[in-house]
Amino acid sequence: MPIALIIHGGAWNIPDEQVDAHVAGCRAALAQGWGVLAAGGSAIDACEAAVRLLEDDPTFDAGTGSVLTSAGVVELDAAIMDGSTLHYGAVANVRCLRNPITLARHVLVGPATFLAGEGAEQFAAAQGLPLCANSDLIVPRERLLWEHWKASQATPEGESHHKSEAQAVGGHDTVGAIALDQTGRLAVANSTGGTPFKHPGRIGDTPLIGCGLYADGRVGGAVCTGWGEAITRVALARRAVELLERGLPPQSAAEIAIRTLGRAVPGGNGGCIILNPQGRIGLAWNTRRMAYAYQSERTEAVWGC
Ligand code: GLY
Repeated sequence: MPIALIIHGGAWNIPDEQVDAHVAGCRAALAQGWGVLAAGGSAIDACEAAVRLLEDDPTFDAGTGSVLTSAGVVELDAAIMDGSTLHYGAVANVRCLRNPITLARHVLVGPATFLAGEGAEQFAAAQGLPLCANSDLIVPRERLLWEHWKASQATPEGESHHKSEAQAVGGHDTVGAIALDQTGRLAVANSTGGTPFKHPGRIGDTPLIGCGLYADGRVGGAVCTGWGEAITRVALARRAVELLERGLPPQSAAEIAIRTLGRAVPGGNGGCIILNPQGRIGLAWNTRRMAYAYQSERTEAVWGC
């Protein structure tokens, strides 16, 4: 079977000066995940490895470097899904973990499908995952943005939930990956710090099955980025996979899914990556930019932002 991998490093208004870092991060994650696939590793291992790298890169709104809530802390969401079994693991509102994707991976094999907050962190500790201080996840760039926001109060908290406005400040977003391994298994994964200055406890599309991600090994997988509330309202990832089910090629499915997002919800902005079991790739976005990198046995590595 042809192996394939696609990564995204978030949509939105990524500023010119941050483009190189976004591309470099996506390329490094691609190389990491590709190494796993090329060595005969599983799609789920490749997704986890790629997303971990992105979580550790402070460029992205995931893991270290994530945006802050209105209370000035980091709250992380992540999810992973195995398209060959439809097993799914998700975590939300995690404050003390550098790599929530690895916790989601542990949830995937456990009795639950979704753990949030304190219970998720207790589960992480029970699984022997290393916990960290919330302050370890905060970088000076995000602390400064939060301090400006807090001082100015220019953006009322309710309004700041609107991604289009809030992301214009920092311009970085969720990360995600889709992989196809040598045995034909397909997996999807994503991770995020969510919306800048979000209400504590707010959960976006990222960890919600069918919204931020979906994989069905028979037809393909989709991972989304953008304004979580809009993506959730249209269950965007499941919609994109349904388009594959109807026989559309991945590129058309990605374009139609993003058009639907824009039409269905005012301010419905975001991006979507797709991979099918034949290793064909699709990607589309209606924001100014989306960072991405992909490779398959059909194509050399491609990247952009
Ligand atoms: N797309 C990430 C979020 O809205 O939380």
